[in-house]
Amino acid sequence: MSPFLLTRTLPEDATEAALRADVQHGLSRTPKSLPPKWFYDAHGSELFERITELPEYYPTRAEREILLDRAADIAAATGARTLVELGSGSSEKTRFLLDALTGLRLYVPVDVSESALTQAGHALIAERPALDVHALIADFTAAMTLPDTPGPRLLAFLGGTVGNLLPAERAAFLSGVRALLSPGDALLLGTDLVKDETVLVRAYDDAAGVTAAFNKNVLTVVNRELGADFDPGAFDHVALWDAGAEWIEMRLRSRTEQTVKVRALGLAVDFAPGEELRTEISAKFRREGVRSELAAAGLELAHWWTDREERFALSLSVVG
Ligand code: AVJ
Repeated sequence: MSPFLLTRTLPEDATEAALRADVQHGLSRTPKSLPPKWFYDAHGSELFERITELPEYYPTRAEREILLDRAADIAAATGARTLVELGSGSSEKTRFLLDALTGLRLYVPVDVSESALTQAGHALIAERPALDVHALIADFTAAMTLPDTPGPRLLAFLGGTVGNLLPAERAAFLSGVRALLSPGDALLLGTDLVKDETVLVRAYDDAAGVTAAFNKNVLTVVNRELGADFDPGAFDHVALWDAGAEWIEMRLRSRTEQTVKVRALGLAVDFAPGEELRTEISAKFRREGVRSELAAAGLELAHWWTDREERFALSLSVVG
């Protein structure tokens, strides 16, 4: 059997320190906010997998369609020997790339969710004994380093997760990615596209309430990790389209006036009735915006592929 390595680039207490800092900061300011990366404990990762199967949540299916159609083109354009995947999750769609990249020697999935990495990693090496898998537990929004791996490298950031970053964070992230790449390496970026508002809002407010449960799960994470006493039932799930910023926002709206205690921080947080806590932005893109954001980071857009309904795009930049 091929080796499956799991490396934690941050010690576990650093993850906890980051959560403490994010909660301290995010709940003390107005408007209140929490970063979306804390959705993904084992239960949150499971809920997200269920979201990807919802009739309303089209991005996963649209991206899968593009990958299926274009995997051979991606392989030909990159000739990758290492595939690094940021935010790999279940690595489900990655299989199309792994099949098409005939010269591939190493797969490096990077995720904040240890449970997702372990599950996906073991499933993959069972299926593909010739492939080496070196999983990294890492926060790719922070400064990243990669293990020394055979080139050319293809760095994939799929699912539209880049849209969870604010524009300034995105610029810093893309520059950081560019700095990881050498000549001949490539970036494959998935971006959800601007479209009809009702389609967008439904994708983040499904009839079965799975996205609402996913949103509220961040409160459960803070309860467990920091001894807080959030009552998830005391908040409503909100999804709205910000037409100016061109992003979906998820929020949790306090049903009542309430005070939440966060024991590990010695913090008491007051919520006014109807007060909202922002838990995620999910930016939607246009081709010209993606091209110019890549260019600002020193990356040139070489290919732009969409699904047939033009809901989602994959772009490929190869470093010259
Ligand atoms: C995994 C970040 C791509 O923004 O669409 C799904 C997360 N949030 N439903 C997205 C999410 C609500 C998802 N990403």
